Amino acid sequence: MTIHVLPVRADTGTNIHLKLVGSCGKRIVATASVHIVTTDSHVYAYLHDVLVKEEYRGRGYGRQLMMGVLVALQEYADDTCKSIKLQFTSSPTRVAANSLYQSLGFELVATATSGGTNLYQRIIESAM
Ligand SMILES: CC(C)(COP(=O)(O)OP(=O)(O)OC[C@H]1O[C@@H](n2cnc3c(N)ncnc32)[C@H](O)[C@@H]1OP(=O)(O)O)[C@@H](O)C(=O)NCCC(=O)NCCS
Repeated sequence: MTIHVLPVRADTGTNIHLKLVGSCGKRIVATASVHIVTTDSHVYAYLHDVLVKEEYRGRGYGRQLMMGVLVALQEYADDTCKSIKLQFTSSPTRVAANSLYQSLGFELVATATSGGTNLYQRIIESAM
């Protein structure tokens, strides 16, 4: 699978939307969206819509997609000389996704109660 990072929208320098697309030949088999928001004091990234097409699951593409997200955010952090706080949620019913996130070492900062979602976080430090 090849990962492509598409800047879908850059409203201003403080609100950026990246779309990651994984392709096998001409087929799009995986996607993820990242919103990067810069405030006066911090840069936050919010991850959404992590998905591998059903018939392509279990081949390592989900892990590759998440590594693509981390590479794209590391490049952004290095380019801007700013560290990023990446946050995202996942329902505990999404067993494969939660296993993937925990195997990649994302910090589980809040556990779902009564039908809610788990909250994951990682700080991506700027190399500068
Ligand atoms: C979550 C998802 C993206 C994983 O994609 P994938 O390509 O199947 O994942 P990979 O093959 O790269 O597997 C990576 C890890 O995910 C976990 N995993 C994958 N399939 C799993 C399964 N059926 N049961 C439990 N864990 C599983 C494992 O930790 C696996 O690591 P391992 O192979 O070392 O055991 C995919 O299942 C999916 O699209 N699910 C539906 C949408 C969804 O839940 N998105 C997340 C929203 S928060």
